[in-house]
Amino acid sequence: AASTEVDLSHIGEGQILTVKWRGKPVFVRHRTPKEIAAARAVPLSELRDPATDEERAPHPEWLVVIGICTHLGCVPLGHQGPYDGWFCPCHGSVYDTAARIRQGPAPYNLVLPPYKFLPDNKLQIG
Ligand code: FES
Repeated sequence: AASTEVDLSHIGEGQILTVKWRGKPVFVRHRTPKEIAAARAVPLSELRDPATDEERAPHPEWLVVIGICTHLGCVPLGHQGPYDGWFCPCHGSVYDTAARIRQGPAPYNLVLPPYKFLPDNKLQIG
């Protein structure tokens, strides 16, 4: 299908659901207040691929990103690495709780897919 629908009521705070969209993994992360605060406190000057958390997660409790490392395409592991964001096991790229690249060889943040929120606590990706 061109789009994927996700029922957000099944994703508890602190959890990450991985869904498929156009053959790619997409991470839907229900962020905790602590994870949101950590992402929002980072100065843009510390970022390799500068983007505010507000731009990346306009509904702050929900972060939705394509789960493909921007180095060579592995699938990063959630809730790992020094920022408790994602860690890519292939060559050690580290992403924060906004899925912004913080360490390692990847050049860019994890990519945001197109998505929108639907009634009844649903999310449409694509
Ligand atoms: Fe992720 Fe190389 S593919 S660090």
